[in-house]
Amino acid sequence: MIPDDSYDVLIIGSGAAGLSLALQLPPGFRCGVLSKAHMNAGSTFWAQGGMAAVLHDRDSVTAHADDTFNAGAGLCHAPAVEFCTSQSRSVVDWLIAQGVEFDYRSDQPDDEFREFHLTMEGGHSHRRIIHAADRTGRAISDVLTQNAAAADNIALLPDCYAVDLIRQDGRCVGAYVLDSENSTVHTVASRAVVLATGGASKAYLYTSNPDGASGDGIAIAWRAGCRVANLEFNQFHPTCLYHPEAKSFLITEALRGEGARLLLPDGEQFMTRFDRRGELAPRDIVARAIDHEMKRLGLDCVYLDISHRDRSFLRSHFPTIFDRCLALGIDISSDRIPVVPAAHYTCGGVVVDQHGATDLPGLYVVGETACTGLHGANRMASNSLLECFVYAASAAQHIAASELPPAINLAQWDDSRVRVSDEGVIIPYHWQALRRLMWDYVGIVRSDRRLEFAATAIELMQTEIANYYSQFRITRPLLELRNLAEVAGLTVSCALSRKESRGLHFNRDYPETHETPKDSILIPHNQPPFQGPNPTQLPEYKFTDSPQL
Ligand code: FUM
Repeated sequence: MIPDDSYDVLIIGSGAAGLSLALQLPPGFRCGVLSKAHMNAGSTFWAQGGMAAVLHDRDSVTAHADDTFNAGAGLCHAPAVEFCTSQSRSVVDWLIAQGVEFDYRSDQPDDEFREFHLTMEGGHSHRRIIHAADRTGRAISDVLTQNAAAADNIALLPDCYAVDLIRQDGRCVGAYVLDSENSTVHTVASRAVVLATGGASKAYLYTSNPDGASGDGIAIAWRAGCRVANLEFNQFHPTCLYHPEAKSFLITEALRGEGARLLLPDGEQFMTRFDRRGELAPRDIVARAIDHEMKRLGLDCVYLDISHRDRSFLRSHFPTIFDRCLALGIDISSDRIPVVPAAHYTCGGVVVDQHGATDLPGLYVVGETACTGLHGANRMASNSLLECFVYAASAAQHIAASELPPAINLAQWDDSRVRVSDEGVIIPYHWQALRRLMWDYVGIVRSDRRLEFAATAIELMQTEIANYYSQFRITRPLLELRNLAEVAGLTVSCALSRKESRGLHFNRDYPETHETPKDSILIPHNQPPFQGPNPTQLPEYKFTDSPQL
């Protein structure tokens, strides 16, 4: 798809964050929404569990906030937590107004008092997860994509991959965009640019994420001079299907919320040895416990067992998992499900304020790409969709209220000095090597020795990738590798700077947790000195103006 030469707002990423931002801009704003593959290729589509929302009489915003703080291991920022948790009801109303259908407890559509079916996940003290069976992401993604496609002011641009941002006079004024179908790079001017490209879990050999989770937005923003923070907190989901024919298939935590037990091969239910909350302890604890047991006993996997629940209940609540497992010969109503932890979510990201605004004027970052302070050292299950919608609304309102300068004429991309590659092997080699390295050296349990080795190895890879980039025409695999290596390097730098263990970051050399929590913030050194109030802190803000969803 060929993008126009200019937009009012260029949104890079077509998941929950990018699409909801586009839909909340006033209709007078012309915006282009880029996806590097098809429009539904991102992580949103694959979200199973649902979205955390305070909807039950006995639940409260305070309880949701307290649970988020507990899961975040001391590093959540209060304004972000209060902001997000107080908005969940409005987000649900907005999604329903868009046409998203969530599950109800009763199946009588004319019952005006019927309540949502709320499920349970790790770290939550109440049933709080609103969902559409185990296909919540798909239900949201389909509706938002349809609505965006029908909006006159929104252009959906599949197969368009942002290469880098364009900076002029200290402002983000557009981006270079690779049209993968025609292998052409377009120069796109924009009055504001939004990065909503998801996370970087593809940096790990085993991940629940789709192939595109290559940390593009984080790498692009870093190269453009924005600070990044807390990238050492890469969340490993405790339960991905372990099967030779199943790639990246998540077994939702909601299964544990509905009573599934984690078992060793001999049938021992081991989680209570690690935490009194058992299977519903926060994710960092469950994933580390599984990793510990697998290493202790030399296991390939552990097992998840929900066979005590009724077959028809499992079929209706977890149709995706039921069918997928059955196709692989596992009947979850009678068989145990082999599972392993896998990289799932990037809790850190690009430093933003309450509007998703970054260090670079004109550039906004929302969703998993951003570090808002909500997740701290460990994101609580199902808080991520909520964060996408809350910050996308806030960014849309900020953009609409800002006096944006007009789009300007920009220099065209010059590829006159590069040629088509005759060294293609370099890309799959480094892709494999990097992901293996991250899994083995920067995984669930870390040590300084392994992190230092990883830092050196990644630096060498980055040198080779940069050489390749400077000589050959760009392709999607090259851009993904370049971004993934960039984010892997930043992840290791964050991990090395943290001399303690906290939340998702466990370093054998520093098993204790410091009394005073501190964010790990990296400042790009190839850019003019940072101008903000305090470069070593996340922005401090108070919400005087809540976004109206
Ligand atoms: O287990 C899950 O369904 C994942 C939920 C999440 O990552 O928030």
